[in-house]
Amino acid sequence: MKRIIIVAGARPNFVKIAALMFELKKYETSFDTILVHTGQHYDYKMSEVFFQNLNIPAPDIFLNIGSGSHAVQTAKIMTAFEKVILKTKPDMITVVGDVNSTLACSLVAAKLHVKIVHVEAGLRSFDRTMPEEINRIVTDSLSDLLLVSERIGLKNLEREGVHSDKVHFVGNIMIDTLLANMKTINASKILENLNLKKKKYCIMTLHRPSNVDSKEALSEIFETMELISQQINIVYPIHPRTKKMLEMHGIFKKCEQMENLFMVDPLGYIDFIKLVKESMFALTDSGGIQEESTVLKVPCLTMRENTERPITVQKGTNYIVGRSKSKIMRHVADILCKRSKKGTIPAKWDGKTAKRIVKILKEAG
Ligand code: UD1
Repeated sequence: MKRIIIVAGARPNFVKIAALMFELKKYETSFDTILVHTGQHYDYKMSEVFFQNLNIPAPDIFLNIGSGSHAVQTAKIMTAFEKVILKTKPDMITVVGDVNSTLACSLVAAKLHVKIVHVEAGLRSFDRTMPEEINRIVTDSLSDLLLVSERIGLKNLEREGVHSDKVHFVGNIMIDTLLANMKTINASKILENLNLKKKKYCIMTLHRPSNVDSKEALSEIFETMELISQQINIVYPIHPRTKKMLEMHGIFKKCEQMENLFMVDPLGYIDFIKLVKESMFALTDSGGIQEESTVLKVPCLTMRENTERPITVQKGTNYIVGRSKSKIMRHVADILCKRSKKGTIPAKWDGKTAKRIVKILKEAG
């Protein structure tokens, strides 16, 4: 029996571990699974609702770390997670994605000679100003098994000198969760609750430091939102970090007054995905939404200068638009005239990624 710790800390992690926990449960005689929640995200709407929506078992261990600067948050997670490893003595840990919890727990495990499995390995934006890029590079360099969601990951890791024996192309685990929950997503009443009509609105999310931490960037985006809202309703579930920043820079009130902009609290998984699925397009700086919109065949305008998920642009429905007002408005016009690309589903984004991962975990020495 292998003892395996699954680490989750922030919202996108919960969506990824849901499928993995479900699959691992089928092999209770092979794995003693311990779920550790670092508490990086802690609000009900950023954390617990995902456990409820996705039937994730309650964490076995909750580290209750909370927010802080990158160094403080990472250090606190490391200190607490070291105690967990020393006490539980796992054979391996599995980390997902690229958040601070991913990095912190990998560092601890590596120093205590515990095997690390990284799900969603090999993605690179080549932009080291993104905290996630640092987290990806360090986590991958420490990992013993690197499980890749799109083929470019294989290339990136090869270039960095990672031995191919450690690397497996397993597909996209976030899409397992999406496909497994499609029936419930379809049944969501969020459109009725928000008084929205299918394809008569776009959905926006925004939380990256590069977009929300300066007044200039936020003001620029606000101006673009005003232009878009003259053409189509905008539904905007607002991340706590962004809300804080909008309030600090005096833009929140202006947003409240903007006609056709509907700001709502962060939503649970099921309602949020339903909103994406029925929207005319998504406007986002998230990593996961680029992937989810590709599978839902909804056009996505990504307000970043790059993406670590290039398959969503090459095969999917994603466009990288940065903060350029003219670029964004050109795409919006195209989408409203139904001239945007239709997209196809990337390889191994088929709902079977967790199965492939668990097979690899079973075979791992
Ligand atoms: C984190 C991840 C990011 C991921 C995002 C998803 C890192 C470096 N970033 O960004 O990759 O895309 O999660 O949401 O790990 N806050 C609350 N309640 C919460 C959580 C956060 O109010 O439950 C506020 C706090 O003021 C906090 C801020 O949001 O300081 C930022 O939270 P943090 O976890 O540091 O990063 P995110 O921006 O959420």
